[in-house]
Amino acid sequence: MTAQLNPRGDVAVLVPAAGAGVRLGPGAPKALRLLAGEPLLVHAVRRIAAAPSVHTIVVAAPATEVEAVRAMLAPVAPVTVVPGGAERQASVAAALAAVPAGPEIVLVHDAARALTPPHLVESVAAAVRDGRDAVIPVLPVVDTIKEVDATERVLGTVDRSALRAVQTPQGFRRSVLVSAHRSAGDTLTDDAGLVEKQGIAVTCVPGSELALKITRPFDLALAEHLLTTGA
Ligand code: CTP
Ligand code: MG
Repeated sequence: MTAQLNPRGDVAVLVPAAGAGVRLGPGAPKALRLLAGEPLLVHAVRRIAAAPSVHTIVVAAPATEVEAVRAMLAPVAPVTVVPGGAERQASVAAALAAVPAGPEIVLVHDAARALTPPHLVESVAAAVRDGRDAVIPVLPVVDTIKEVDATERVLGTVDRSALRAVQTPQGFRRSVLVSAHRSAGDTLTDDAGLVEKQGIAVTCVPGSELALKITRPFDLALAEHLLTTGA
């Protein structure tokens, strides 16, 4: 059944899904690979569409797959599909340009975080609604972190209590994200990083283990297991 988005919602979610998935190994673009019989992107969009504040979803698809992605998502939720770019940032910019007038909160969410629960979409959006310019979901870093030199010699141990692992969706006041992308120079920076460079405060909220990014075959196997146990 196709989900209905909320016409009175104040949130647009951009879903960059145009990456190749090189680290997952040979095969289709990552967002189109199957997880428990359905493409990762279908899992991701279904969960975004279940978040009650969501008004608009814009997917940036691999340029050669735009029509296929439109057809694939039509039964899942009403979405706009645009061709992505060569870098994630270009894909996000293309999706941002397609957001209609209305939503004043924009979330940027990786298709690769296919099991992200709807409540995380809501909690990031709520923090922006409460007046934050930029909000990122984070988890504590659990491993001991060492700084090393080029020969793998340990230079020191980093204080992990001051570190956070960052997930998506990252949420922004719309004007903040638009101006950050307008002045973006460095293609390796994430969306919150672009905003930080403008001197704007970025606030952390608790992330979710289920928002793991499916990057390597191990992650896909883990996600498959999580789905069969109820995610
Ligand atoms: N992405 C995108 N456009 C790109 C590159 C990445 O829309 N040119 C998207 C991916 O589809 C993914 C998200 O950005 O949903 C996070 O990127 P990543 O996990 O690195 O995915 P891939 O780039 O596909 O994977 P890899 O780096 O292993 O090729
Ligand atoms: Mg990548």
